[in-house]
Amino acid sequence: MKSLTAFVCFVVLPGSLGSWEEWWTYDGISGPSFWGLINPQWMLCNKGRRQSPIDIEPSKMLYDPNLRPLSVDKHKVSGVLYNTGQSLVFRPETGPKHSLAVNVSAGPLAYRYQIEEVFLHYGTDNSHGSEHRIQGNAFPAEIQFYGYNAELYANASEARHKSQGLVAIAVMIQIGETPNAELRSLSSLFGQVIYRGQSADLRHVSLHALLPETDHYMTYEGSTTHPGCWETTSWIIYNKPIYITRQELYALRRLVQGDSETPKGALGNNVRALQPLHHRTVRTNIDFTNSVERGCVTMKSDMSYKANSWNIATT
Ligand SMILES: *[C@@H]1O[C@H](CO)[C@@H](O)[C@H](O)[C@H]1NC(C)=O
Ligand SMILES: *[C@@H]1O[C@H](CO)[C@@H](O)[C@H](O)[C@H]1NC(C)=O
Repeated sequence: MKSLTAFVCFVVLPGSLGSWEEWWTYDGISGPSFWGLINPQWMLCNKGRRQSPIDIEPSKMLYDPNLRPLSVDKHKVSGVLYNTGQSLVFRPETGPKHSLAVNVSAGPLAYRYQIEEVFLHYGTDNSHGSEHRIQGNAFPAEIQFYGYNAELYANASEARHKSQGLVAIAVMIQIGETPNAELRSLSSLFGQVIYRGQSADLRHVSLHALLPETDHYMTYEGSTTHPGCWETTSWIIYNKPIYITRQELYALRRLVQGDSETPKGALGNNVRALQPLHHRTVRTNIDFTNSVERGCVTMKSDMSYKANSWNIATT
């Protein structure tokens, strides 16, 4: 019961540290295995059975011909990139005085969702960094777009507690020679968000352009991968990665969790451990009866994650 002792010592602090929201990490005694204990509202982080991320096993996916292509608005938005001390987060500024919200619909979704936050998860070396894995393989990074059901609910904080409340779109990021152009505009700001609390304005970015060119995806019902691990999240994981250069990754790995006086550890490795599937189904619109015929696919630039014929190198 060592862990419980740590928890008890820990609870006396929040009054002096501010809100619970700021108050979790990816390591130590406020790390992922303690999230559910830190705050009773985050109980699902420890007890939930529909949690994320998961390992996607292509051979166990269910082909669902009813899954339509996902529709994501293409227009450009402006917003702010933050180093929160936990992750690198982009928040689009939308509303009356700003651009129109970026909406997501169709695909497996019955409602229209509005994108609120984009998270970047990455490793301190190339062997890991993505939260989801494909047949046990991690990628150096994963970008996640969280949205809330704007047809039924007023905002994300209401929606996350409610049925069909959230959507999360995940794209794996691989090292490559032809980097994603929109990711470039994001990475040009990494030097301005080295420390916790720093932010940088990002102008005219198309979230749609951060997605790979494919209509193929995997989908399952899960949770947010950060507290409170709300199990109201429909996940959509694209079947192709986007690419980042080594230089961009190096720049990203300079970011730290603390401020300039106490920088603490690297911001990287902001990755929650894989969660058990507990008999959930992962559906896909990849018709793998065809892809088997095409045989093994490798890590070429047109690579996709083919069901039943997985062959991937994570350099
Ligand atoms: C997205 O949906 C909101 C309503 O939730 C609407 O105000 C906005 O115009 C939509 N965006 C676009 C680009 O149509
Ligand atoms: C979200 O919407 C609910 C219900 O309308 C409201 O009570 C709450 O103040 C809103 N929260 C935020 C952060 O806007």
